[in-house]
Amino acid sequence: MSTPTATFKTLDDLESDQRVLVRLDLNSPIEDGEPQDNRRFERHAETVRELADAGHRVVLLAHQGRPGRDDFVSLAGHADILASHVGRDVGFVADTYGDDAIDAIEALEPGEILLLENTRMCDDELPEEDPEVKAETEFVQSLALHFDAYVNDAYSAAHRSHASLVGFPQVLPAYAGRVMQTEYEANTAIAEKEFDGQVTMAVGGTKATDVIDVMNNLGDKVDDFLLGGIAGELFLRAAGHPVGFDLDPEQDLYDTQWEQNHELVEEMLAERGEQITLATDLAYEAEGERAEVDVDEIEEKDVSFLDVGTDTAEGYADVVRDSEAVFVKGALGVFEDERFSVGTVTVLEAIAETDCFSVVGGGDTSRAIGMYGMDEADFDHVSIAGGAYIRALTGQPLAGVEALKEQ
Ligand code: 3PG
Repeated sequence: MSTPTATFKTLDDLESDQRVLVRLDLNSPIEDGEPQDNRRFERHAETVRELADAGHRVVLLAHQGRPGRDDFVSLAGHADILASHVGRDVGFVADTYGDDAIDAIEALEPGEILLLENTRMCDDELPEEDPEVKAETEFVQSLALHFDAYVNDAYSAAHRSHASLVGFPQVLPAYAGRVMQTEYEANTAIAEKEFDGQVTMAVGGTKATDVIDVMNNLGDKVDDFLLGGIAGELFLRAAGHPVGFDLDPEQDLYDTQWEQNHELVEEMLAERGEQITLATDLAYEAEGERAEVDVDEIEEKDVSFLDVGTDTAEGYADVVRDSEAVFVKGALGVFEDERFSVGTVTVLEAIAETDCFSVVGGGDTSRAIGMYGMDEADFDHVSIAGGAYIRALTGQPLAGVEALKEQ
């Protein structure tokens, strides 16, 4: 069998002195409107530095958040964080393909780096469409004129058939960046591995629709799903508990995702409930402190639940210790706040101590490893991809990877 990277060209194949358009995935947690440093910056810096050191003119594309959400912000702050990891200046222009962007691109000298504005602020980026359709957009057609090559390093966004991910490989010679290469190799290996013992997956985070889809697809590969986050509450709601809805009409975390998924969630609970472990207690904030409540004692949801409870976390850790393989997709609580890190950290620590095959995915979740003093070396693979790594696990092709393979 050929090695996976034989299927696409890499930076090793790039000619010298190129004007290179590079797609990164810098999608990050946003606090008070500002991006928070995370592994994505550190990993992508390797590709960017290599290109700049080689003397290419390097122009970067990336997205942040989704239109209509609080995390949908400019990339101005991302440029500074990336620069600190690359060890070189990273210029920024608040434009994607207008005159300001083109002027800044044309002014670049060899070895200089420029980040363009959030691709999702450009009308042509969304929605998902065929690569041929995306290639015809004004965004792709006009920007491509100023480049010799396109590099896709955004493995973690490669499941989206957006213009910046699938359009450019249609019109420019396209290459995989170092992060794309590493993630692709690791995640393809995961899909091919056979496990004799228990396979466990801890799922949480805010993207419940993605998580539920993954659970539905992985039904015959995973023995036990341990639930937390938004999906965890939606499953509890389906099981008859008065949780899993928005308290604040401004905050749309639960209700829309419930409408979209409740039939599937109810069906999964009815048909393979034995594979699904739900929280038995939940944590919330009371007078500035962490407080906990047994799920069976909740009569009405009048607080936001921010973590699974301590009993739940310990039960989940026991399951992990009996597992041969453990995958993590999404945090079990709001671990950025130490008071609500118990679920996420207890499970990660159990994985780190257990001699199991382990993959931690989800750009945000993997941040907890460094934040709480764990060692990345205790995990087999710490992916910076969320949905993309799970799709790889389920054997689904990633549009952005397929576009590179077609070169
Ligand atoms: C991610 O953060 O998982 C990727 O950047 C994809 O983001 P999306 O789910 O908003 O498309």
